[in-house]
Amino acid sequence: MGRKFLVALGSAALALSLAACSGEGAGSNGSSGADKPSDLTIGVSMPTQTSERWIADGNAVKSKLEAKGYKVDLQYAGDDIPTQSQQVDQMITRGADVLILAAIDGTALSSQLQAAAAAKIPVISYDRLIRGSKDVDFYVSFDNYKVGVAQGTALLVGLGLLNKDGSKGTAKGPLNVELFAGSLDDNNTQYFFGGAMDTLKPFIDDGTLVVKSKQTTPEQVAILRWQQETAQKRMENLLTSSYNDGSKVDGVLSPYDGISRGIITALQNAGYGSGAKKLPVVTGQDAEIASIKLINDGVQSSTVFKDTRLLADQAVNAAEAFLQKKQPQANDTKTYNNGVKVVPAYLLPIATVYKDDIKATLIDSGYWTAEEVAAGQAKK
Ligand code: BGC
Repeated sequence: MGRKFLVALGSAALALSLAACSGEGAGSNGSSGADKPSDLTIGVSMPTQTSERWIADGNAVKSKLEAKGYKVDLQYAGDDIPTQSQQVDQMITRGADVLILAAIDGTALSSQLQAAAAAKIPVISYDRLIRGSKDVDFYVSFDNYKVGVAQGTALLVGLGLLNKDGSKGTAKGPLNVELFAGSLDDNNTQYFFGGAMDTLKPFIDDGTLVVKSKQTTPEQVAILRWQQETAQKRMENLLTSSYNDGSKVDGVLSPYDGISRGIITALQNAGYGSGAKKLPVVTGQDAEIASIKLINDGVQSSTVFKDTRLLADQAVNAAEAFLQKKQPQANDTKTYNNGVKVVPAYLLPIATVYKDDIKATLIDSGYWTAEEVAAGQAKK
């Protein structure tokens, strides 16, 4: 417990004098009137440990905050909405001073947010925007629409319809593609899929790309909770329903590396990748180590790299700003309307990674080592 309890009393002067009596620490940092970092706890709620990006996010946020002396209450919710609600409730009752939340379902935490607002706890929405609440104070993420554009573009480049510089490629249609999107309860899904479809639509409209299954709406192509197994099953069903006439899939739009691996497994089980039946071009996201090895081995075509170390930095900056009673610095105050208000955001850039980019983008930046890429496994 720290600043928020005192601020709730409404007067900075009163707060300072009470803090001095109670030994809570407010004001002990001199002129800023802030608590000592060691008196402040940041609650960090992450959705799941089944995808390595969230483990990296959680570890990075925790270690960066701890290096500054703050206490961190980090919890993973196992992709279970009631678990996440309960964990956030507990963070509030245990006296968190700021919350950093990556929601499983962007609409499911509203009662926790109300409780946080009542206790004057600032809430930072981490990577996924929390929807339908006025009590979201800041958003840190990547440019999610651009992620979708990058995925659509990578599909076109992989198919040879575009060159990497954006010029027209040598390939000719018609080429068969299938589309996948992420979990519909994740606010990012609409940006990823929207960006990708804006990029692919002209090629679908003129017949260069053909979606044989005719499944093109978000509802038809979404994968609940981004599950690899669900994606594998859907790809198996697509192969049975739409490609049992001898036709072949040339490309698959995938929004996330785990989904990509499910898709690739289904394709390999159906004989793709051996003999004349080339594996389709498959996109991805997150630069997960298992997929980077697949890209290095020529199995997956691309991924979109989002440097979680930089996102953690932004979350820490925002948390510190709130703890110092300042507003975090935003670089986007227009895009992210959560249904109730536009949430000020700090958005980070993204990078497409094809095989040729692995060294410069991932190894030279220290994100993965060459050994990890060769093994397809993270060391720690
Ligand atoms: C994140 C992606 C991630 C996906 C599945 C999205 O909200 O932005 O980076 O691939 O969730 O975990």
